Amino acid sequence: MPENSSKPSRRQVLTAGAAAGAATVIANRSARASVVRSTRSSSTDGTPEQVHLTWGENPSESVVVSWASPQRSVNPRVHIGQRRIEATERRYTDGLNGETVWTYHARVGDLRPGATYAYEVTADNDKNYPAPFGATFTTPAEGRRKYRFTSFGDLATPNTQWVLSYGQSAYAVAAVESFQPMFHLLNGDLCYANLNPLDQPEVWRDFGNNNQTSAANRPWMPVPGNHEIEFCNGPQGLTSYLTRYTLPDNRLAGFGGHWYSFRVGSVLFIALDADDVVYQDAAAFVAGPTALTPAAATGNAPVQPGTSFYVRGYSGGEQTRWLERTLKAARRDESIDWIVAQMHQCAASSSSTGNGSDLGIRQEWLPLFDRYQVDLVLNGHDHDYERSFPVRGFDEKAGTSIASGATVNTMRPIPVTTTDSGVFDTSKGTVHLILGCGGTSAPLDEYGVDSADGKQQARIFTHANRPALTSTPDVYARPGNDAVEDAIWSARRDTATGYGIAVFDVDPGSPGEQTSITVTQYHAAGADPVNPTSGAKGAPNPDYTEFETFTLVRPRSDSRYR
Ligand SMILES: [Fe+2]
Repeated sequence: MPENSSKPSRRQVLTAGAAAGAATVIANRSARASVVRSTRSSSTDGTPEQVHLTWGENPSESVVVSWASPQRSVNPRVHIGQRRIEATERRYTDGLNGETVWTYHARVGDLRPGATYAYEVTADNDKNYPAPFGATFTTPAEGRRKYRFTSFGDLATPNTQWVLSYGQSAYAVAAVESFQPMFHLLNGDLCYANLNPLDQPEVWRDFGNNNQTSAANRPWMPVPGNHEIEFCNGPQGLTSYLTRYTLPDNRLAGFGGHWYSFRVGSVLFIALDADDVVYQDAAAFVAGPTALTPAAATGNAPVQPGTSFYVRGYSGGEQTRWLERTLKAARRDESIDWIVAQMHQCAASSSSTGNGSDLGIRQEWLPLFDRYQVDLVLNGHDHDYERSFPVRGFDEKAGTSIASGATVNTMRPIPVTTTDSGVFDTSKGTVHLILGCGGTSAPLDEYGVDSADGKQQARIFTHANRPALTSTPDVYARPGNDAVEDAIWSARRDTATGYGIAVFDVDPGSPGEQTSITVTQYHAAGADPVNPTSGAKGAPNPDYTEFETFTLVRPRSDSRYR
């Protein structure tokens, strides 16, 4: 696979935009050509790359165009129609290798709902002049409308020089484009830069250039995972992530971009940082025996063996209080039917080779999801696909300590049905989907089974697994999960592959009736590098075929008032 995917041609992106069937507003190239030419100067390389979109505060009216450049850009800007929009510069210096990263962000507002726009990204020192990078995007129509979104997490990059990168990540980006969603949800562990600690900016660069093939055409909305937490890059290690993305404002000083919400049609999307609540310690870690030594220019001290970056509780409860306010307001709003929560780590995963479930999410957020009828929770973290039955409430005595065999309270979610009918009313219970099936080199599509009775089993973190010294001097390890439970909530697991993409088709239905979201999981069978059961070697596979489809339904919120 190439290290970086080449950007789509202008012809390709315009064709893709036209397929959306909405009104098209083409950038007027000739009207501003003289402006570009007259201001072009500088010997540094300000060529835009890693171009990606995110929604603004109101997706029907605003997007943010973000990008990076190898060196500082001069007069970085977006051209859209007759408008020239100056970009804001944000830069950071990586705390481990000392590289300065230049990023740019242009807020594009006053857009028409349901319209397709062409835009170009450039700077005075853009080496692609006079043909700067261009793409198109489409804004959502207002009100209750049919539309499609897609999701996966754990993408990595196609450059196999990096830890956990694999060629499937290029096919995964192409898969998003093949489904032409309104936008894509990227559920954390974007590129595993923190597993390549002295090359973090280069890993991010490969990630950004791979994603550009899709993320320049439609917003990709991310959440942070444990692998966005990097040593020496800010109080929670999120400086790289936060510098590269401009996300909807949560109006909480000090936590901008950490978590947020946005609304498209009758669906409220809530993006959460589960690093704040999980027990599991799985962020940046120096196992030893040698220290991690930052470049001298950074002035940062070596990170000693046994050090891990553990941020549980960092918001002091701010995130959960924000979540409850947001959920409460949403359920009082008769124009919002659906609530979809997106986070990286899992409350309901039964992967046996991955991370499993985390009691921290169950304690902190599942009671709120119950109280406010959150319909759907989308995760990553475990590199597989798993679907739960709708769940509500919990069992206190269903867990067993792995160490002692004693009963422990894992707050096991209670399924409201165990009949896999294919149609689920999520006003009765929340469906959890594990979608860590992006493109890493480490698929984790093996699932727990209780050897004593053959029942499905999940492993749970109920305590922090802080690093402990091993029998090898100066080498540390983090223990695994500490409890098990019968996974009575698990409805479907994909044992064929760890790669796939979920496609969601929202249908608002009619007043007084039900609304629905039809979910189809497409998977890339045979893409696992090594089949965990047979040992057969696979290879990256561009063919995403249907694994399963099911439908979520709930009463429309405006029905309550009829
Ligand atoms: Fe993860």
